[in-house]
This record gives sequence, structure tokens and C-alpha cells, in this order.
Amino acid sequence: MSGLEKVFTPIEVKGIKIPNRIVFPPTDTNFGSADGFVTKMDLDYYEKISRGGSGLVIVGASAVTKNGRGFPNVLNVYDDRYINGLKKLFAVIKRNDAIPGLQLSHAGRQAWMPNFEPVAPSPLPCILKSASQGLVMEMTKPRELTLGEIEEIEDAFAAAAVRVKEAGAEFIEFHGCHGYLIHEFLSSFSNKRADDYGGNLENRARFAVNLIMKTRDSLGERFPLCFRMSADGRVEGDLNLEESKRLAQMLVDAGIDILHVSSGRFENIDYISPTKNLGECVNVHLAKGIKECIDVPVITVGAIYDIITAEKILCEEKADMVAIGRAQIADPELVNKSKRGDFDSIKKCIRCNECGLSLYTEPGMHCVINIDLPKITPDTPRVKV
Ligand SMILES: Cc1cc2nc3c(=O)[nH]c(=O)nc-3n(C[C@H](O)[C@H](O)[C@H](O)COP(=O)(O)O)c2cc1C
Repeated sequence: MSGLEKVFTPIEVKGIKIPNRIVFPPTDTNFGSADGFVTKMDLDYYEKISRGGSGLVIVGASAVTKNGRGFPNVLNVYDDRYINGLKKLFAVIKRNDAIPGLQLSHAGRQAWMPNFEPVAPSPLPCILKSASQGLVMEMTKPRELTLGEIEEIEDAFAAAAVRVKEAGAEFIEFHGCHGYLIHEFLSSFSNKRADDYGGNLENRARFAVNLIMKTRDSLGERFPLCFRMSADGRVEGDLNLEESKRLAQMLVDAGIDILHVSSGRFENIDYISPTKNLGECVNVHLAKGIKECIDVPVITVGAIYDIITAEKILCEEKADMVAIGRAQIADPELVNKSKRGDFDSIKKCIRCNECGLSLYTEPGMHCVINIDLPKITPDTPRVKV
């Protein structure tokens, strides 16, 4: 459709041509098997999503170590035995002409796991807060990581990246935002260490920088690496835009090719998938601020619901790519329908956040608008593919 030229202009990152500027951002679904293998439900979900027209589809947060799992049914990438299922998953995405990516993650103290000892830079429990839900909840107190363990996790990110590349991914994102382990290190809000991994920004960024450099060493120069950051933690004492600008440059110097700019952490969880009261395009100013100070493409995300708004953001040069999450969960055909001007048939996300909430309360993610998602009960078989 005319008027959407920027959205449908390809972009190249490290030799990979992404066919358009719309990203399906990482979304954990809890569709995996109990031991973290890809299931038929994962294949079906990414089949529908990638058929819908986004240029880049990033598979949700996948655990680089056993104690890095965020939810009971997330995908694991910490062992070679996971490669086979991932191959099938990336093949589905590729067959639909989208670039397949995956987000490498360690959940740190925000792990939502039963009978589990979380680990973190400092032994401070996360106080989950949602203003929209009137919720304040203290999570399990984490154990402080030793220096040896920190280095092992850095290595685990690099080893996981090698597996994910071997399985056919063409893009890797580090989960550096939303209060998970990398963000925990980055922020003096959650990092109170007195050693080389705590204190000033250079020290707090050491974990991120090391794992990026180790991954770059393992994958070689020509593989696109993305870092997802909360450029504003949305709590007093966390990262803000000014500090994030300095951080962005450090990440690029370490080997990052593209930055994905989000905001929030569990202490202000409403910003992670922005609730309706927060308005629209809530992180665009952060993406613009980061874009102004670095020389690599920037993705914006957060309460962007339609392709016309995405086009405007791109035309105003506030970002180079636009991620649309919940609106594509509600209608996976959003991009295709917009491309042919068929706006009236788009099933609109109502921002009820049932998709996100169901991760915490149900056996699998669901959406009140997209009735095609699997209805999962505790007895639903989760057979690895
Ligand atoms: C069901 C669900 C799962 C999510 N899982 C992840 C994840 O694995 N990693 C991540 O960085 N963000 C995750 N997010 C956040 C989204 O990637 C996205 O940043 C957020 O929903 C805001 O975009 P939107 O307003 O377009 O939905 C998730 C969001 C939802 C709704």
C-alpha cells in the first residue's frame, strides 16, 4: 500500500537482509516441554506469526543455563540436545520469508519458577509492583553469584549462541532489559557489588560487555548481535536515558550491531508490556535518544499498534525498525493485512494484558482476541518435536 514505503523498505544488518522494518519481538509463551524442548505448540505459534509478514521474528527468552530459566515451560538453549527442535523452529520462520532470531536470557532474581533458588549480582529480592493491578509482591531472595559463577554464565551465553546459530538462527538478541540478570548487573538499583562487577557504569556493564565479546569471538564478525535494553528502568535509582546513552556506546564498542530499546523492570512491571493507562508509543523518545548517539540501527517497542504509526516513527527517524508484540499476537496477519490496505479486518489488541498475565497464572500463554492460540490445561501433552 502506498504511504507505507519506509516500513516495507528492507534493512541490512551484518550482511543479513531483513525484508521489512517490522519486528515480532521476543515473547515467552510457556508452550515448551517441562524440560525446555520445542513442542508442536511452539511450531504452530511461530508458523502463524512468521506467516503474518514481520521481517524479523525473535523467539522469546530462552535459558542459557539451568538456573536462568524464567518460567517453567520456556525453551532451553544450554545443551546441544536442544539444537534439533530449534532447527525445526527456525526452519518454520525461514520458510515464511522472515529472518529467524532468538533471545538469549538469564532470568536472575526474576525467575518465576516453583521450588527454585534464583541467583543475582546481589542478594536482594525483587519486589514486583504493578500499579494497574494494585499488586506488590516480594519474590524469592536470590543467592549472590560468585566471581567464578559470573564468568561461567558469560561463557554460557557464548556457548548458547553457537548452538542457536548451528540450529539456523540468523540473529541473536541478548535479554538485557526488564530487570533480568543482565539488567540486574547494569543497574545500581539491583547491583550492590563491591568488586569489579559493581560500582561505576564500566564495572556494572562488565558482565554485559564480557558476554558480548565472548559471543562475538565464538560466532565471528559476520553474525548480527542485538542487545535489548531498558533505557529507562522506570524506577528511582535505575538506568535513565543519559546513563543508557553511555551504556549503548559501550555495548556497540563490545560488538553489538543493533539496539532494541524497551523500558521497565518487575518493580514497575506495567512498562514492560505497557498498560493502557500509560498511553501509546511509550518508548519512542528513548529509542530516538539512543539513536542520536550511536551509529547502529535502533528498534523501538512498546504500545505501537499499527503500521501507519510505525511508518510515522520511521519517517521521523526516531528508530530504524519497529517491534509490534501484542497487536501481532491478537492478529498475526496484521502486517500482511496492512500491506494490502485491508485495515478493517485487523483484529485489534485491546491491551487487556491477558497474554502477559497468563504466563504467571496459566499453563500457557493465551489471548482473548486471538482464539487460534492453543487452549492449554495442566494435562495438555507437551511432546518435543
Ligand atoms: C506474552 C508476552 C511474553 C513476553 N516475553 C518476552 C520475552 O521473552 N523477552 C522480552 O524481552 N520481552 C518479552 N515480552 C515483552 C515484549 O517483547 C514487548 O516488549 C512488550 O509486549 C511491548 O510491546 P507491545 O506493546 O507491542 O506488546 C513479552 C510480552 C508478552 C505480552
